Formats: sequence, structure tokens, C-alpha cells
Amino acid sequence: MDTEVLTRGERAVPASDNPLWWRSAVIYQVYVRSFADGNGDGTGDLAGVRARLGYLKDLGVDALWFNPWYPSPLADGGYDVQDYRDIDPRFGTLEEAELLIQEALALGIRTIIDVVPNHLSDQHPWFQAALVAGPGSPERERFWFHPGGGHDGDEMPTDWVSSFQGETWTRTTNSDGTPGEWYLHLFTPEQPDLNWNHPDVRREHEDILRFWFDRGVAGVRIDSAALPVKDPALPHIGDAVHAPGEHPHVDRDELHDIYRGWRAVADEYDGTRVLVGEVWLDDAERFARYLRPDEMHTAFNFDFMTQPWSAAALRGSIQRTLAEHEPVGAPATWVLSNHDVTRPVTRYGRADSAFAFARKRFGTPTDIARGTRRARAAALLTAALPGSLYIYQGDELGLPEAELPTSVIQDPMHFRSGGVDPGRDGCRVPLPWSGTRPPYGFGTAAGAETWLPQPLDWAPFAADSQQRDPGSMLSLYREALRLRRETGDLHGEDLAWLELGADVLAFRRGERTVSMTNLCPVAVPLPAHRAVLLSSGQPTDERGGMLPPDSTVWLAL
Ligand code: GLC
Repeated sequence: MDTEVLTRGERAVPASDNPLWWRSAVIYQVYVRSFADGNGDGTGDLAGVRARLGYLKDLGVDALWFNPWYPSPLADGGYDVQDYRDIDPRFGTLEEAELLIQEALALGIRTIIDVVPNHLSDQHPWFQAALVAGPGSPERERFWFHPGGGHDGDEMPTDWVSSFQGETWTRTTNSDGTPGEWYLHLFTPEQPDLNWNHPDVRREHEDILRFWFDRGVAGVRIDSAALPVKDPALPHIGDAVHAPGEHPHVDRDELHDIYRGWRAVADEYDGTRVLVGEVWLDDAERFARYLRPDEMHTAFNFDFMTQPWSAAALRGSIQRTLAEHEPVGAPATWVLSNHDVTRPVTRYGRADSAFAFARKRFGTPTDIARGTRRARAAALLTAALPGSLYIYQGDELGLPEAELPTSVIQDPMHFRSGGVDPGRDGCRVPLPWSGTRPPYGFGTAAGAETWLPQPLDWAPFAADSQQRDPGSMLSLYREALRLRRETGDLHGEDLAWLELGADVLAFRRGERTVSMTNLCPVAVPLPAHRAVLLSSGQPTDERGGMLPPDSTVWLAL
């Protein structure tokens, strides 16, 4: 990867860099609220990130993806945006964001921000104006306001079910106190859906892209990218089976024109400004359509992320992924987790190691030691695959999912499940940086509390002690990213499978570099090799060595 390193403070121009940086970039996901607290109030912030850029540089990442950092009532962790052109005061200021973007760039690290097109906050001026303006007003046209069905208009306009479980419509109250129209929200009532058939909506988002690209942002992650367009007829779904593109609110064909418009905006800028889609779709061919050359650059590979710890399942997913990306010429992405899903250490330590929303339960038995071995193996496996790599903050520390007491959970997914699903806060706990007790150097002042409590047994995960331990998860990640950078074989986009047994995932990259993962319950022999480059299990550097179960090794042939 050709990231150039400039002296701190020097203004870096992304245009001068490798235009294909995104095809193999290592992108670190920063959940600002939980990364590091610069002002001591218990919530992470931009000052905290700026103070830790050195850590990210040492880790060896090429770009940062920030979850939404805009002013927000945080009804859904910031995915309820009140103002797309500013920074939440709890996180800092716009000026600080500009400094952060430049300081990161000076270290060779680009910034990707999160853009949320499907909905905004109910506190956003557009929605507030729509509520005040009342039925039939142009202000309401930017959303999906609709009279209810039934005798008194008290039935929801459609039977659509929320991605967060439950209802997708909320009824408004007219200015005279009588029940009014309903509005659509595929997520919570605090996140009204925008009407993407409205020209204002389209114009506004293209302008938001320019606002951030003008500030040096290198790309956007597009939230819920397959959802923004709705069928204006608002049909019921019932048990209907929809042909591709005909579902009333998922993966509609009209979306592609929107993203082509976004791509045109991105392409107006020097350097490559990238579009990264959050596209949850089972249909591989439909997924790949978003990655055609004039649309998004890449999209998250959730197919791989949701697979169980099984050689057949993982190999199948890798093969599918490469095959589906090939015709559109887009690189694959490899993702082990993010702020919405169970931490890999926990997921791989469970009997059911596949990921599925709505299958999470409190108190699920977990073998953390086994999960950690597998997460280490998975980290090397994914880092050896061709394409770009995402690392969710804290995975490099091997953090497990925190089992939080229900009294502190804030995630709406928990509440909308009737309290059955623990929700997503367990992977959003503030990071441990140092020391042996909360707040573990997170930065929160004495007497204040972190916004989610940190477990009392997290001392072994603190970044500073891991930095000193060559056997730690952090050292493994750093070493893997260093080798990935320095090993020419890992820079291409080729992959050749090696058949070393049914439960062994092995492939060659380039001429001489092999990654081999053992998913058998017993050790397996290594193929003939010149050197062990890195191993997630017991270091095995003697020729003709054995690879322990649940581990990955990189070999030089
Ligand atoms: C995406 C985000 C998730 C958010 C949802 C609604 O799936 O990753 O965190 O809750 O969109 O914006």
C-alpha cells in the first residue's frame, strides 16, 4: 500500500496518492463515543481520537471510518442525524473534525465518514417543519406522511415490519389535538424516512457529500444503502414474494441512479473519494449491481461476516464473494464485525457461531478462550485475502462482547425486542487503554462515569499491556498489518486454493505466500515451506511443523 507519510502538521493532499488505495486498504472503524474521551465527561470525542492517532498509525491502518459524528439526539447512537454539516458538541466541533482529517492524513491515514440517507432525526429542521406545516404541505412531501386506513384512520398505512422489529408507522397529532397523519420509519419513530422521489432530498445529499469532500474526507460509508427508495404506491407486503427490485422498500432499481449521482460527485474530486455501501442482500447478483464501475467502489461483505466457524462455510463464502465481485471489477471487503454485531471473540466461542440479528440472547454459554483462538485465526485469514479489510475498534484488543445489565442498555433494538434481545451495546463499550480498573485510561475524569460501564475484568485487554506482550491480540494485528504492507504477494488480487484437507482453509497469494487455517479439532502438518511468517497459534517455526486447531499460519514457500 502506497500511503505516503508526511510530517505532522504538513497539509497533505490526497490527490497525490495512489488512486487505487481503496482496493486493498485496511480500514479501522472508529465508534467515536467509545474510542477515547478527551474531555473527561464519559463519552469519547474527537480530542480523544486526535490524541490516539499515533496508536492507529502504529497499528498500521490506511483509513478510519467514523460512525455518525453529527449533532444527534442519539436515539439510535447517532444514526438519527439532526444536522449533517456539523459535529455533535459532545464529540467536539467542526473545526476539530477538520484538524483531525488533516492530522490523520499527515500520518498517511484517510478519513471515511458515515452518511445516512434513508432517514434523519425527528429533531431535524425538515421534519420539525413538516410536523408544523401539516397535511398536504410541501414540507411533508420530503417524507412519507400518509393518512391511516380503517374507519378512523387509526390503522397503519402498510404492514411493513421494521428492521428493528415492530411497527414502521407513527401517528402524528394535528395542531388542534386531533389524531393526524402517520409517517413512515423503517427504524425507530425518532428516525423518519426520507422520500427519495423528492428532488430536495437528492440535491441535499449531493450537497452534503460536497461539504465533506471539500474538507478532505476520502470517502463515505452509506448507511442502510439498499433501503432509501420506496414504492410510492405503499403496497402491503403480506406473504407476497417479490421479484428482485420489486420489494416495496428493499433494493429498488431506482437506487442505482441515486448512487450514480453520488459517484459523479465523488469523481469531481481529486484523489479517489470512495463510496462504501452498507448493503444487506442475500442475492449476490443484486448485491454486485451496487458495485458496477459507475456506482459504489465497495460494499461490506456481510455474507462472510455472518458465517459460522466452519471450513466449508467460510470457504464457500470466500468463493462466492470473489466470484460475485469479479464480473463488476470491484474488490471484495472482509469484515469480522462492526458496531451492530456480536464481537468475534464471543461469537466464535459459542455453539452457534453464525451471526444473525434477533438471535442474540442474554446468558448464552461462551468459551472465550476458544473464541479468542478462533478470532486470532480469523484475523490472519481475513488479512490474507485479496481486497480491503475492516477492523472494528476493540477487535484488535480481542474484546469480548460485554454482557451489560439491562438497566444501562440504551440501544433501541433491545427495547423494541421487548427486552429479549440484548441489543448492540455489548460491542460498544468504551475501550480499555491502560491500568487495571475502569475507566482503564479511557480518559473519563475521576467521579464521572463512562456512558456504558466497562466490565471489571477488562484489565488484560488494556492496549498498553498488550503493546508490551508479543503474544497479545494487539501484537498479532500489528504484525499482520505490517506483513500485509511489506509482502508484495499480498498486494495483488489473485488467490489459488491449496487442498490440504477438508477442514483446512489454505490458499496461496502471489508466488510464495500461503495462508493456512486449521478448523479441525486436531493439529495438521504444514506443507513444505521456507519460513513461518506469522502464526496465530503456538509459534511453530521449525520446518515440517504442525498447525494447532483453530489457528492460522502464514508461510513463505
Ligand atoms: C445501519 C447502522 C445501524 C443503524 C441503522 C439505522 O444498519 O449500521 O447502527 O442502527 O443503520 O440507521
